[in-house]
Amino acid sequence: MTLKLDYSNMLISPGGLDAGELTAAATGKSLASALSGFEQLRRGGSVGFVDLPENKSLLEQVTRYAASARGKYDDVVILGIGGSALGPIALRTALRPSGWNMLDERARDGYPRLHVLDNVDPETIAALLGRLPFARTLFIVTSKSGGTAETMAQFLIVHDRLLSEGLDVARHLVFVTDPKSGALRPLAERLGVTALDIPANVGGRFSALTPVGTLPAALTGIDVKSLLAGAGAMAARCATTDLTKNPAGLYALLQWLADTRLKKSIAVFMPYSDPLRDFAAWFVQLWAESLGKLRADGTSVGSTPLAALGATDQHAQVQLFMEGPADKTITFVTVKERGTDVVIPAGFSDVTELGYLGGHSLGELIDIEQLATAGALAKRGRPNMTIRLDRVDPANVGELMMFLELATAYAGQLYGIDAFNQPGVELGKQFAYALLGRPGADAAKKEWDSLPKSDPRWNV
Ligand code: PA5
Repeated sequence: MTLKLDYSNMLISPGGLDAGELTAAATGKSLASALSGFEQLRRGGSVGFVDLPENKSLLEQVTRYAASARGKYDDVVILGIGGSALGPIALRTALRPSGWNMLDERARDGYPRLHVLDNVDPETIAALLGRLPFARTLFIVTSKSGGTAETMAQFLIVHDRLLSEGLDVARHLVFVTDPKSGALRPLAERLGVTALDIPANVGGRFSALTPVGTLPAALTGIDVKSLLAGAGAMAARCATTDLTKNPAGLYALLQWLADTRLKKSIAVFMPYSDPLRDFAAWFVQLWAESLGKLRADGTSVGSTPLAALGATDQHAQVQLFMEGPADKTITFVTVKERGTDVVIPAGFSDVTELGYLGGHSLGELIDIEQLATAGALAKRGRPNMTIRLDRVDPANVGELMMFLELATAYAGQLYGIDAFNQPGVELGKQFAYALLGRPGADAAKKEWDSLPKSDPRWNV
């Protein structure tokens, strides 16, 4: 157990939450019913992400497949979008050495490079597919629903290329999808392609600890067992209604109170760690798609997540956090022991801007900058909190993922919405189907045709 949540700066006065109000909320009805509401969903079997660390069969599928693939591929490419891409990207950046895809084979210990095609911009796809040696490449097609247009389009392109190069598709493709539903399952059978499971009760943005994240992790040499063990430890730690012991419950409560009572409707997530920089994008999707919802009573809820990186964004966004609208909470993530450190050499002691730096290390500099920024924000009445990790290793990263997933699920209960659906993206999908001529989209086509169109008068 290493993750710590320091929320002292959420209780600042003026600008923060009142400690008495927090205690009342922590022991009050709404939190108790949020925690038990989530527990009911879990026990009822409709929400399964908390139980993933205990799922031995998924781990076995992944370990077996990764062992059979060892040494066969120089490049692995994920075709997937949203929750099917952001988790693997975050895991790669956090748990593989910096610049992994630029290292030679020996430095990668024989493990393959990992590319993630999480969009359908032809520029990127043509460039990557144009330079990959297909004979030494494995494509992981990841889609929970097994039908997402972007991923299916990528699959069609890759499948066609494999055939035209005379390669065995079963050797160069693996699917990660729902055990039953969607187009990928039957396609796997038809093509003789291995398909690994995303449990039916785990949705895209909560799926990083299924083969969505663990398969690419295992293929690239990440210790998946420790990742899951860390996640399991966090799940066990949060299995309590005593908020002094449940960091995810507390985080959800703090964010919810800050949003609903203090009108802090923007939740900034700002790691001071390059390995965690892609975690911010993963968190943004998790929080946004889970909590930005229309409640049954017709009110729109959810705070807007915003990704930032320390210390880089001290020179881009912190001005806004300090003096712009007081509508934000800032969550920092810090790391106690970094994989490496670099001492700043002494030099130019006669130059004020340089002389004081010599003898400190870069690790010290980035840590002190975080402390200074958190303090400065607190001084200006801008509430912030800090998640402290001992190090960025599989166990800590597993803890952090489970912590944020649980916090999101609890926050969903507090807001009184379903954190596990995404009805708001449907209409846009239907319009796209209609415009692309997908069968069954006639109603959407009619609705589209009735919309006002771009007016030349209002174009410059
Ligand atoms: O979190 C979600 O459910 C979504 O963001 C999905 O991950 C995304 O839409 C991709 O869906 P799928 O994995 O079904 O292709």
